[in-house]
Amino acid sequence: MAEKAFTPRVFSGIKPSGGLTLGNYLGAIKRWAEMQGKGLETIYCVVDLHAITVWQDPADLRHGTREVMAGLIAAGIDPESSILFNQSQVPAHAELAWIFNCVARVGWMNRMTQFKDKAGKNAEKASLGLYAYPALMAADILAYHATHVPVGEDQKQHVELTRDIAAKFNHDYKVDFFPLTEPVIEGPATRVMNLRDGSRKMSKSGESDMERINMLDDADTIAKKFRKARTDPEPLPDSLEALDNRPEARNLVSIYAGLADMTPEAVIAEFAGAGWGRFKPALADLAVEKLSPISDEMKRLMGDETELDRLMARGAERAEAIARPILEQTYDIVGLVRSR
Ligand code: AMP
Ligand code: TRP
Repeated sequence: MAEKAFTPRVFSGIKPSGGLTLGNYLGAIKRWAEMQGKGLETIYCVVDLHAITVWQDPADLRHGTREVMAGLIAAGIDPESSILFNQSQVPAHAELAWIFNCVARVGWMNRMTQFKDKAGKNAEKASLGLYAYPALMAADILAYHATHVPVGEDQKQHVELTRDIAAKFNHDYKVDFFPLTEPVIEGPATRVMNLRDGSRKMSKSGESDMERINMLDDADTIAKKFRKARTDPEPLPDSLEALDNRPEARNLVSIYAGLADMTPEAVIAEFAGAGWGRFKPALADLAVEKLSPISDEMKRLMGDETELDRLMARGAERAEAIARPILEQTYDIVGLVRSR
């Protein structure tokens, strides 16, 4: 069957569990903002249903959802030119996820490294939702027939699973209904690492606050965290290859490049031979310059919950208008009778 041409459409999501980090910003949010206004439809979602795959205090979840919404707008996502909303207000996500639970195979889920990392040794005690999570993520994407999904490196496997689900659905039902979505993993900082351990990614949930930069950290905290970031005793080299076995140093160079919109090569060219006593303060200044306007705006937006809730409701209505007909067509393809 010749492959159908799908209109290019961008979808991505972020969990409202814990505050936003520099990893979220450089790996995802900054690039989501840059994809706007290029003639593509852009849909961005605060994925609250994904957050509850691990325990969330209800008050924290409500606060976190509004905080992430504020963070996305403060970082330049325009709720008019993009569709911006929280997942649970568009039931098509959960409904399509059930269909995909019946398409995806247990063997596929067993290969998901994020589940293995998160469930750890205690997989028997993990929620069923955490295990099924990638099928819900596929539903998020495919409920909009999205063709491009900008994410950090850690989500590549889940987007590939989304393609497998789409392909199996199309094959089993002999249709060309769901697109084979492309992950878009670009830029100098697709995997921002932990500041205390260059072998682990920077995450919202890591045990020590010193290992991550939060979007709401103040200037002194940012400076202190970079000053204390783990490095090695060598100065910066004059080529990127020379950083191959220096993960902490490589990470700081990538962060600088991401914040400055430079290539890592250009950062090396500028700082070759510099010691950490010069590089770390320059990095901290750059981070404060780029992040403080965003965190100021985020705090201002969080002062008006009514407005944030109104924006989420409006975004959800616009999202629903796209997702509902796609869900209904899916039900028809599957053979579920719709008589009302
Ligand atoms: P999450 O916070 O897990 O919902 O992630 C939301 C988005 O941020 C996803 O596209 C992730 O790939 C991206 N992301 C999260 N942590 C990092 C990181 N340390 N480096 C790069 N991207 C990240
Ligand atoms: N699983 C993603 C994460 O942990 C978040 C997410 C949920 C997502 N649904 C999505 C990302 C759809 C892209 C597209 O980061």
